[in-house]
Amino acid sequence: MAAYSLRRRLLLWLFLATAVLGLLALADTWREALRTAQGVSDRVLVGSALAIAESVTVDETGTLEVDIPYSSLEMLTSAAQDKVFYRVDGQPGGFLTGYADLDYTQPEGQAPVFSDSTFRGVGIRSATLRREVSTGASSIAFTVTVAESTLARAALARAILLRSALRLAVLISGVAAIVWLGVTLALRPLDRLGAVIAERSPDDLRPVTADVPQEVAALVLAINSFMARLDTAVNALRNFTGNASHQLRTPLAVVRTQLALIDRSTTPPARQAAMAKAQIALERAERVLAQLLVLARVDAASGAAALGPVNIVATAKDLTAEMVPFALERDVDLGFEGPVWAFGHAEPVLLAELLKNLVGNAIAYAGHGAVVTVRVKDHPQGIELAVEDNGPGLSPAQITLALRRRRGASIQAQTAVRDQEAGYGFGLAISAEIAALFDAELHLAPGAGGRGLLASVVLHRAPAGP
Ligand SMILES: Nc1ncnc2c1ncn2[C@@H]1O[C@H](COP(=O)(O)OP(=O)(O)OP(=O)(O)O)[C@@H](O)[C@H]1O
Ligand SMILES: [Mg+2]
Repeated sequence: MAAYSLRRRLLLWLFLATAVLGLLALADTWREALRTAQGVSDRVLVGSALAIAESVTVDETGTLEVDIPYSSLEMLTSAAQDKVFYRVDGQPGGFLTGYADLDYTQPEGQAPVFSDSTFRGVGIRSATLRREVSTGASSIAFTVTVAESTLARAALARAILLRSALRLAVLISGVAAIVWLGVTLALRPLDRLGAVIAERSPDDLRPVTADVPQEVAALVLAINSFMARLDTAVNALRNFTGNASHQLRTPLAVVRTQLALIDRSTTPPARQAAMAKAQIALERAERVLAQLLVLARVDAASGAAALGPVNIVATAKDLTAEMVPFALERDVDLGFEGPVWAFGHAEPVLLAELLKNLVGNAIAYAGHGAVVTVRVKDHPQGIELAVEDNGPGLSPAQITLALRRRRGASIQAQTAVRDQEAGYGFGLAISAEIAALFDAELHLAPGAGGRGLLASVVLHRAPAGP
């Protein structure tokens, strides 16, 4: 995701919002300004028309006479650039004086009639009045039309609009400056937080204690909880690496000793004995390496959802068949019991590894002539996969110790375990981790009749594969 500026985003939104609102306000101001300007000049137009109407007289022959008073037009020309036009029309005789080509509308009653039009190329607004003069016997009607170009009122409205726009611009820039400053100040704790984290040495995974505002507290909490998890993981890895290197060093030291013995030995049997021991130690080292790879696989699988429906019966049968030669070598009776198929939630390679550890242990530790059974059967919670032998078994204390040899356990604890027991491998611990990955638990208990060891895992039932 590309980084974006919070400040710029806020400013953009603010600008858009104020611009839209501002334009609406400006439109309203413009309308209002025009109306005000119009109202004022309309009153002046009517006043001027009234003054002209006052000066209309009638003589004895019934002819209308107009003597335009200078003041009547003077009141209109206050705006220097505007032009004033007028005309007076008598009722029977028509046009009396003024601009004959000026249009006008005949009013119905006493009220003045206003209209907007153009005259000689300029926009004008005109007011027309209808009045009557009395001759004694009858009265004669006439109309007075006064028009004024609208340059001044448009200019006035423009000036009002410009001022409003200016005020709006000042307002927007003021708010923008405040937001800029506010965001800068508000984000300062984040900069501090960043600096505090950046200054840290890689192995300092203590919680961050920077002074941050409420809104950022959740982020700090998340960072701290992540650090705690990272700390656990790093510690586990450190312990495990120490342990694994120990596991490898022991057989390699044996190989070196035996090689020195071979070098010094004078008789072929002594040399052969040393060779055999070196061979066993190398196999041990190989086994440890293989187990490290399995653990790496467990880690990879716990990251991705590599689990799916696995035919437990097929896997268990194959593995049992694979182990038969090893069992024959040790004079162990290895058998399999189970249904035709059963699908469980697992990962085939890791499941085989788990089973191989259990069957391998049973064959190795149950002793000559023992009976080892691999069993798959239904269980109320899923599918049970079990390996049972009738050898010496493990005491509850030994079971706890064997399972504790996990990656998270301390080296001291693991060394203590190693000293107490003949075995020094990871087999059971790895099997327990694989089971945990399948969301199951490795269960170790005495076998039938309290003899031997029964190792079992209950896997979640899975719908049969595609
Ligand atoms: N079925 C069993 N009967 C008796 N003792 C057992 C049985 N399974 C395991 N043990 C004991 O528990 C110890 C731990 O077993 P685990 O499988 O963890 O390691 P390992 O077999 O010694 O080495 P690895 O499996 O890594 O090759 C063994 O050394 C053995 O002493
Ligand atoms: Mg083992």
